[in-house]
Amino acid sequence: MRALHLLLCLVPLMPHLALCYPDYVPQSACDWLAPWHEPYTDPAEGPAPYKLRIYHSQAPAGIPVPVSVVGSQPFLGFMVQAHDAGSGQAVGSWQVTPHIPATTMTCSNPDNTVTHNSRVSKQLVPLAWLPPKGYNGTVFFKGTVVATYTTYWTDIASAPFRVVSV
Ligand SMILES: *[C@@H]1O[C@H](CO)[C@@H](O)[C@H](O)[C@H]1NC(C)=O
Repeated sequence: MRALHLLLCLVPLMPHLALCYPDYVPQSACDWLAPWHEPYTDPAEGPAPYKLRIYHSQAPAGIPVPVSVVGSQPFLGFMVQAHDAGSGQAVGSWQVTPHIPATTMTCSNPDNTVTHNSRVSKQLVPLAWLPPKGYNGTVFFKGTVVATYTTYWTDIASAPFRVVSV
């Protein structure tokens, strides 16, 4: 039930946001996303038709890193964090631009999570991640992509991305 509720919230219906968005979903969705534990409703099996695409394998700290959610099929919703390879913690913050159907969420730290803000069908959502100040390490971008109300893939991971402190 909890996961089903989350999925419905992850794909908010614009006029019915009050219960689920932005106040309620973030916290429960964070719990679901951050430890990457098994949701109560099983995610889809097999390779996800979605990717978290990065365009470089490393960059100096202090520069926003482009990351895109891309699909070979359309999707409705997504939730993405950058996980430090050592600790597994969500690090850094996300930046969104007005015309992109994305919004930031605060899980353990301000804006350390990015999610959709519209249930319009999409196939490519460009995002930008800013490493924490002084960060020197490797992250994996990790996320969940919601294809339809009942089909979603979790634990989608990018290739490793190295941030070199300057
Ligand atoms: C960053 O990390 C790498 C690999 O662990 C290390 O070799 C390097 O000295 C570190 N740089 C700084 C400025 O801490």
